[in-house]
Amino acid sequence: MKRNAKITGTGSYLPETVLSNSDLEKMVDTSDEWIRQRTGIVERRIAEDDIATSDLSVHAARLAIKRAQVDPLDIQMILVATVTPDTFFPSTACYVQKGIGAKNASAMDISAACAGFLYGLDLANGLIVSGQYDTILVVGAEVFNNIVDWNDRNTCVLFGDGAGAAVVQATDEENGIIASYIGSDGDYADIDLLGIPAGGSRMPVTTDAIDNNLNKIKMNGREVFKLGVRLMPEAAERALKKANVSVDEIDLLIPHQANLRIIEAVGHRLGVPREKVYVNVDKYGNTSAATVIIALDEAIREGRAKPDDLILLVTFGAGLTWGSTLLRL
Ligand code: UT7
Repeated sequence: MKRNAKITGTGSYLPETVLSNSDLEKMVDTSDEWIRQRTGIVERRIAEDDIATSDLSVHAARLAIKRAQVDPLDIQMILVATVTPDTFFPSTACYVQKGIGAKNASAMDISAACAGFLYGLDLANGLIVSGQYDTILVVGAEVFNNIVDWNDRNTCVLFGDGAGAAVVQATDEENGIIASYIGSDGDYADIDLLGIPAGGSRMPVTTDAIDNNLNKIKMNGREVFKLGVRLMPEAAERALKKANVSVDEIDLLIPHQANLRIIEAVGHRLGVPREKVYVNVDKYGNTSAATVIIALDEAIREGRAKPDDLILLVTFGAGLTWGSTLLRL
């Protein structure tokens, strides 16, 4: 009998504090109209000062664990996809392990920017299908507000904080992860394209770096936009091809939530009608590694993703990295 990996429970958590476009109008030279038209974002959530990525993760993970009806002690591995870890080390995954009491798990972080959650799902799938693991917790979580330059209107209007989590388990059902694909291209590992210059071994955080905001996100939005519109449909097609599934069979497409125009272009290129494309970028902005799992969790709660539905998740991010997962709920 074939052994599959299946998402048996999801959860998400968004901080309560809302930062609206009109709030941003008071901070930088921007307008609600510009942000809505160019990005589709209306508001985003901001974590309180004393809240770290693992705190959001623990909230989301507890919900996922409850819905999957697993004992935290049965979780064998915790993967946390994030570019905003609590600390460089220990890993955020270890703090999550403590928070949920998953004493028997191994724990590590995944650094693949906005594609991180699907990297985690791909790893979990491989480790479960191979028979090495039965139960893995995959989290995508970010607290971006500390790495955003709140004086840079090109980036500060785009990002938000949030977390999503999925329990992935072995099953002999046909349902579950049907195809998964991840890729990257280090030729685009360019700090001027998308990244944070200071804070790593290349450039430590000095007072000079701080004075020049080099410890904050830099992005060439126009270039990243073009790459996203090309790479996400390509990634989605790889998973569809692997599974020999046609795009018409998809019940719901969940693309990375970075910009409504990118989401619409991806849906259009793939030939997925608007009503089958999930959008929540208006409410949360870009929560990086958390977007697709927050969206999947919300889609399940809203009844937009139902048992037996065929769901296609697709992401891209800095690195460049990208990934797609086709699953039957
Ligand atoms: O998770 C992956 C990471 N990120 C992304 O996927 C983001 C990808 N990129 C984008 O979403 C878009 O490129 C942006 C939303 C960042 C920018 O939209 P755009 O349509 O590409 O605008 P642009 O960069 O071409 O800028 C157009 C104008 C510029 O003014 P000038 O040079 O034409 O006078 C910008 O200075 O809009 C200006 N602008 C703004 N105006 C008001 C840029 N940001 C703002 C702003 N408010 N917040």
